[in-house]
Amino acid sequence: MNAPDILPARRPIRELPDELISQIAAGEVVERPASVVRELVDNALDAGARQITVRLQAGGIRLISVEDDGSGILRDELPTALKRHATSKIANLHELESVDTMGFRGEALAAICSIAEVSVLTRTADAPEGHGWLLDGRSGELQPTARARGTTVEVRELFFSTPARRKFLKSEGTELAHCIEAVRRHALARPEVGFAIWHDGKLVAQWRAVTPDLASGEAHLDALRRRLADVLGEDFIAQAVAVSWPADTVPGTAAPSAGDGPRRLRVWGFAGVPDAARARPDRQFAYVNGRFVRDKVITHAARSAYEDVLHGHSQPVYALYVDIDPTRVDVNVHPTKIEVRFRDSREVHQAVHHAVEGALAAPRAPQAGQMPA
Ligand SMILES: Nc1ncnc2c1ncn2[C@@H]1O[C@H](COP(=O)(O)OP(=O)(O)O)[C@@H](O)[C@H]1O
Ligand SMILES: [Mg+2]
Repeated sequence: MNAPDILPARRPIRELPDELISQIAAGEVVERPASVVRELVDNALDAGARQITVRLQAGGIRLISVEDDGSGILRDELPTALKRHATSKIANLHELESVDTMGFRGEALAAICSIAEVSVLTRTADAPEGHGWLLDGRSGELQPTARARGTTVEVRELFFSTPARRKFLKSEGTELAHCIEAVRRHALARPEVGFAIWHDGKLVAQWRAVTPDLASGEAHLDALRRRLADVLGEDFIAQAVAVSWPADTVPGTAAPSAGDGPRRLRVWGFAGVPDAARARPDRQFAYVNGRFVRDKVITHAARSAYEDVLHGHSQPVYALYVDIDPTRVDVNVHPTKIEVRFRDSREVHQAVHHAVEGALAAPRAPQAGQMPA
């Protein structure tokens, strides 16, 4: 029993300084420039933006700027927005359990501030014309400046204070591709919002806002069809069938918080015909209540709907949107919110399976693709 020499030296238990807590949290939220892009675009969408412009330099490593025309932030609340666990989106457990916004954890801006130089330029609608405010994240200095309603968040020199992390970044080209993919995922969920991406002064992608023709019973499917053609190419749509399940519902019409009873489970979107399948699963977009997710239940259900018509390892293409009552899905599973947990995953599996299978089996216009018998 003479083991004490292998015990580690006793160190006092101390609370970590705030800065370090934020840096640790940032490790979970911000892996690369694309993570910052995702968080900032989430915020812009939550603020009701109709046009979002992303400007990048050096693959986002030198600069990420996201400009929106949303609600803006009040001058007095601006410093709070950069604090940890500060959010306008939830206030209690009940609201957490039925959260309907992209953000709710109140940690993105604080995390980003701890690993980059951040400034926020913003103006709310009720501020007099031209009365915006510029907040420097590092110094906390607040200055009046002119701008239209909305917010621009600028993030410079990502990971400048954590060089070890910076070394993990890939080439500028690779980081840029990830940034574009992050915006693309948002764009596929929000046809009514216009997006533009600039890199080193050049426009690299632009998807104009699609105004749904509300006179049409299929307004949301039509708008989505146009956005999908714009983002993924006409081929995608030419070789896809519309998914809308159950048949007696109209996709996209439930107000996010209608308040009158639970929201019905609904699956809609577009599924590629078997001929459009690819070798890699790189065109499988799945959304839950407008949030891009990577979810085994949905992926498996979608693949199973192709079982009889796709053989081997061919990967179907699709953009599928699951609308579900927010109380039946937990989005607070992972800091990046890319994973969700369903209260009843069988129900979701069956819905996705039936929705896609039904769409593939339905007779369709003869001009595009071949359907299985
Ligand atoms: N682009 C924006 N427009 C308006 N308000 C914003 C914007 N970005 C951030 N905010 C405000 O700052 C708060 C903190 O943002 P964030 O750290 O991303 O946390 P969360 O999005 O989880 O609330 C938000 O709750 C919101 O009130
Ligand atoms: Mg956020």
